[in-house]
Amino acid sequence: MAKDFSSMEDSNRSSNPSIHDVSLPSRRTVLRGGLGMTLTGLLAPLAATLPGCATTGSGGPLLGFKSVPVSTADAIAVPEGYIAEVIAAWGEPVGLSGEMPAFKDDATNTAADQEAQMGMHHDGIHFFAQDGSKSGLLVMNHEYVDDGLLHADGLKTWTAEKVRKAQAAHGVAVIEVEQKDGKWQMVRPSPWARRITARTPMNVAGPAAGHPLLRTAADPSGRRVLGTLNNCGSGITPWGTYLTCEENFIFYFKGPDEPNAHERRWGLRKGDPVGYRWHEHDARFDAAKNPNEPNRFGWVVEIDPLNPSSTPVKRTALGRAAHEGATVATTRGGRAVVYSGEDARFEYIYKFVSRDAIQPGGARANTELLDHATLYVAKFDADGKGRWLALTHGQGPLTAANGFADQGEVLIKTRQASDLLGATKMDRPEWIDIDKQGWVYCTLTNNSNRGADKQPGVDAMNPRANNTMGNIIRWKEDGDFDGATFQWNHFVLAGDPANERADAKGNVKGDAFGCPDGLWTDARGVLWIQTDMSTSAMGKGDLKNLGNNVMLAADVKSGDIRRFLVGPVGCEVTGATATPDGRTMFINIQHPGESPSERSDPAAPRRCSNWPDRRPTGRPRSATVVIRKADGGVIGT
Ligand code: FEO
Ligand code: CA
Ligand code: CA
Repeated sequence: MAKDFSSMEDSNRSSNPSIHDVSLPSRRTVLRGGLGMTLTGLLAPLAATLPGCATTGSGGPLLGFKSVPVSTADAIAVPEGYIAEVIAAWGEPVGLSGEMPAFKDDATNTAADQEAQMGMHHDGIHFFAQDGSKSGLLVMNHEYVDDGLLHADGLKTWTAEKVRKAQAAHGVAVIEVEQKDGKWQMVRPSPWARRITARTPMNVAGPAAGHPLLRTAADPSGRRVLGTLNNCGSGITPWGTYLTCEENFIFYFKGPDEPNAHERRWGLRKGDPVGYRWHEHDARFDAAKNPNEPNRFGWVVEIDPLNPSSTPVKRTALGRAAHEGATVATTRGGRAVVYSGEDARFEYIYKFVSRDAIQPGGARANTELLDHATLYVAKFDADGKGRWLALTHGQGPLTAANGFADQGEVLIKTRQASDLLGATKMDRPEWIDIDKQGWVYCTLTNNSNRGADKQPGVDAMNPRANNTMGNIIRWKEDGDFDGATFQWNHFVLAGDPANERADAKGNVKGDAFGCPDGLWTDARGVLWIQTDMSTSAMGKGDLKNLGNNVMLAADVKSGDIRRFLVGPVGCEVTGATATPDGRTMFINIQHPGESPSERSDPAAPRRCSNWPDRRPTGRPRSATVVIRKADGGVIGT
């Protein structure tokens, strides 16, 4: 999600100190000595591993393509020898038998049409192979909507039908795709095709299911929620299911006149929400009337795409947060470990360790694997070490006396529990992925409030004030993925060496970039990095030389970073997946043509972009981009 720096959530007012305050005095001196000294210390472990030019097993270079230049064009740019084609744009029918309404350029599709079409604002994505690398399912998130493009007259009138259409454009799509005559296309109709929206019934499972704080008048059980929303990053499980993550859910709720401490900690403010007007026709989103409804969002939702009639499940054992994504690792003993960052200023990084081992037999054999676990939050220490702090009721301060009646309440109030434990406040943790050496990488996209008046100062983990550029941090667990401690360093501080401001130069070895967000390791070990510079900041200030948002490829051994793709005007590049043979890659282009005011003018829908259709009567549409090499080779070679 591209977000205006000024409107991004910043709700952590806990007295939980940053590590700046608790680190050794001698260390603080080093950190205050300037960026160069900071890097010398923190990048030492990386420098020690530099092997020169890393190679693939076949002896070729890991990154075999020539960088594409920075661009401000309203087009996709890929390296010479590559092909990029669009499928599954917003509004395309997903392929429900007997329900395939065509997309209308003028945005006059109804809410019922939208419920059978691709949603808006494509985000996390995964390819579930069915016939090797020739066909399969694409499952993807639709994070949010631009009401200026979704409706023919934007917000000029506001009706229950428009709320329903906006809710239908959120959620998840499952589509079948195949490669035919050298081209990828949607298979329609398909028995797998499915839309999951902000109104789809889903179950609640895990320790918070049925909790009094999840009960509402419409659902006295606290176990049945309508819908998922603001689905940002995603993950997959070893047993074949898809994890979709509810990120900035609070923007959908109207707040009471006097929000209580719990509501304030989760960013709920008095009056109308910043982004949406759903509460005007759907009382669920009026938190003054339904104060527990916000507690029913902020979860990781598990979906079984191979069972189209299955009910999605909100897995509360993973904790409530503005979850960016959910990345699953497996311990040597077969337990699932799930990493998740919370994308808001000064929020935290979480790790879930399942109680039980994954069972053979796919989704049906692991229906409760994500319900029994210990959840941890990260505490980074300034000496390059870190600890996982257990969010377990009854341990340490997580007691009834401190407002946590039971484990369910700890999981609903994950932020407050983490505050009490002294977790480390980060610069907006976004996607997480793991390389072949077991390093876990997390993008910290930016935080212009770092070091501002009355805000946490810089620390070893978040070493730059007014962090407009973002970092990628990485850690390696001591022992296995379920380790209680870890070692960490910065993989890269994003930036542009041409900037005058020292804190915006970064230390990129290769192509300059800012605001890393999407992150994905492919089968060869290439770390793909996608950027989300907000439209309001793009092309100005520290970002003035960086053009449109991009996708880069990193060789994690050498540290080389190379620009692979540039997106069209106003978009962010997000979500990445590939066929098992590595010869087709799928990525998403979200919100092409986003206007700096963050909502398009319905009278001029093509003002900023007309990607991808370029029809004179059209409008910009988020879409999936299929990337192949003209010679049929593996992507990135
Ligand atoms: Fe939805 Fe944090 O990007
Ligand atoms: Ca994101
Ligand atoms: Ca982002």
